[in-house]
Amino acid sequence: MTPKEAIIPEAVSRESVAAAAGSSEELAPRMVGESKSEMTELILPNDTNTLGNLLGGRLMHFIDLVGAMAALRHTRSYVVTASMDHIDFIQPVHVGDLLILKSSVNRAFNRSIEVGVKVWAENTLAGKHRHVATAYLVFVAIDREGNPVRVPPVHPMTEDEIRRSEGALRRRENRQAESERRRRAKLAPAGVGSVRPGNG
Ligand SMILES: CC(C)(COP(=O)(O)OP(=O)(O)OC[C@H]1O[C@@H](n2cnc3c(N)ncnc32)[C@H](O)[C@@H]1OP(=O)(O)O)[C@@H](O)C(=O)NCCC(=O)NCCS
Repeated sequence: MTPKEAIIPEAVSRESVAAAAGSSEELAPRMVGESKSEMTELILPNDTNTLGNLLGGRLMHFIDLVGAMAALRHTRSYVVTASMDHIDFIQPVHVGDLLILKSSVNRAFNRSIEVGVKVWAENTLAGKHRHVATAYLVFVAIDREGNPVRVPPVHPMTEDEIRRSEGALRRRENRQAESERRRRAKLAPAGVGSVRPGNG
């Protein structure tokens, strides 16, 4: 355990998290560690482009899957991916590499949660790891009819978990601002900042 992962003594209790969560208080808070997930894939020629590098879309599929695992474990309900944002493809992944993906819940809101995913590639011959991608996904918990349902709050304990939780709140604000910007752009009359196919 690194010093950063050490438990912070003054970390808030489960009860205080429930109280702070307002109307979520009937749902017991869950620790981040309860839903952390990991998967490993051997990259084969079918996953790669003509240069033998992992396809971006295939990587996004793996990211979606490992993110969903943490979301399912946290919510213990059905989930759908509402958005995947801020994905950085830092370095290529080569055929024959092992792809290692880790996910954890950064923050729970009302009916949605943000999950962070970090991805490494392992060169199996050299035994070396490199960080190749990071992504943030929002999952919405739903019932069998597809209606969004409430999610349990998250109980951040370590410095890293608290930092990620604060980052998730900032990213939610950015997403909401961007969504509002797109909504306004759609409402704008043609020729006033909007682009419509077939007009030119
Ligand atoms: C995601 C979905 C359930 C939202 O339904 P909706 O009726 O628009 O839901 P609401 O507006 O009531 O919002 C419900 C929650 O979803 C969140 N949400 C909705 N759209 C979102 C988006 N594009 N990005 C992030 N969060 C989103 C809302 O913030 C809200 O969360 P909160 O209660 O924690 O604030 C619906 O759009 C859907 O089913 N989309 C298709 C999902 C899908 O097929 N994914 C790929 C395969 S899994």
